[in-house]
Amino acid sequence: MNKMFKIFALVMVITMMLTACGSKAAGPAAAPKTFGEAKCGPNCTYKDMTLCYPQLGAESDWRTANTASFKETAAKLGVKLIFSDAQQKQENQISALRSCIQQGVNVIALPPVVETGWDAVLQEAKTAGIPVIVVDRSVSADGSMYAAHIGSDMVIEGERSAAEFNKLLPNGGNILELSGTTGSGAAVGRAKGFRAKLNANIKILDSQTGNFTRAEGKPVMEAFLKKYAGQIQGVFFHNDDMAIGAVEAIKAAGIKPGDLKMVSIDGTRGGFQLMIDGWLQADVECNPLLGPQVMDLALKLMNGQAIAHEALTDETVYYADKAAELLPTRKY
Ligand code: AHR
Repeated sequence: MNKMFKIFALVMVITMMLTACGSKAAGPAAAPKTFGEAKCGPNCTYKDMTLCYPQLGAESDWRTANTASFKETAAKLGVKLIFSDAQQKQENQISALRSCIQQGVNVIALPPVVETGWDAVLQEAKTAGIPVIVVDRSVSADGSMYAAHIGSDMVIEGERSAAEFNKLLPNGGNILELSGTTGSGAAVGRAKGFRAKLNANIKILDSQTGNFTRAEGKPVMEAFLKKYAGQIQGVFFHNDDMAIGAVEAIKAAGIKPGDLKMVSIDGTRGGFQLMIDGWLQADVECNPLLGPQVMDLALKLMNGQAIAHEALTDETVYYADKAAELLPTRKY
């Protein structure tokens, strides 16, 4: 009888344990996490991460390198990357963001084509508990609407460009500006920093957008050369691709390397080649290789760790005299 009781008691204990396990597995879903917790536990790894990257376009060599950095880093770390190309259209980026919100990604990394117009979709991401890391260019939305910004200080890039012109044209002169995409954080910041530091004896005769592309940089330069023939000493380019397009127009006009002082931004291989060929005197660095840094930050967000709200890339200025030596080391 005693033996029978022991067997009965053992069966009861095993049954109770199994029931407890079952109810745990089938229990109520975890409450939705708040903004910044990225819907994951404290010990998530890269393999748990689905990262949305609604790239703004493929307008430049810089952008191509930026895309490659995200794709290669995701493949290496085992991150699931949801990538799209908005073809420089904000409405396409917003649609891609909404699709990522619907899919319930862990984190969104947004390289915004322009600064304004993001408030509504950032609020939608926030309501869904999906943190947004603003990448590369800035947004004008309040800082509380996104988790962090990682990228270059575009104002400093403009200031550095002005400092180069101050050295190149110590007695002053007239220059032209080929600006980036109108309303983009890159174009706005660079123009602001440039004007703040340019010597008073250097006059910007005109400024037109070339939309950060070779294709648009060339006709803008052609029109400039017709309008300001014989009146200019220099040209400032907001990126290397526009400089490459413009140099085709400058060559066609019979202008020789060094006749005009020229400074650009990015530090791509194409920009380095322009320095080697004597067209550019300086190239201000803007680093596109942001994939590893963004994914590191995204993982911290998923694990509820504290992060800095602003992470600016450490950058430099490259000069023509070192361009040939450095070109083989360039990664983009
Ligand atoms: O936002 C970064 C800028 O965008 C780069 O200078 C340019 O090349 C790119 O298109």
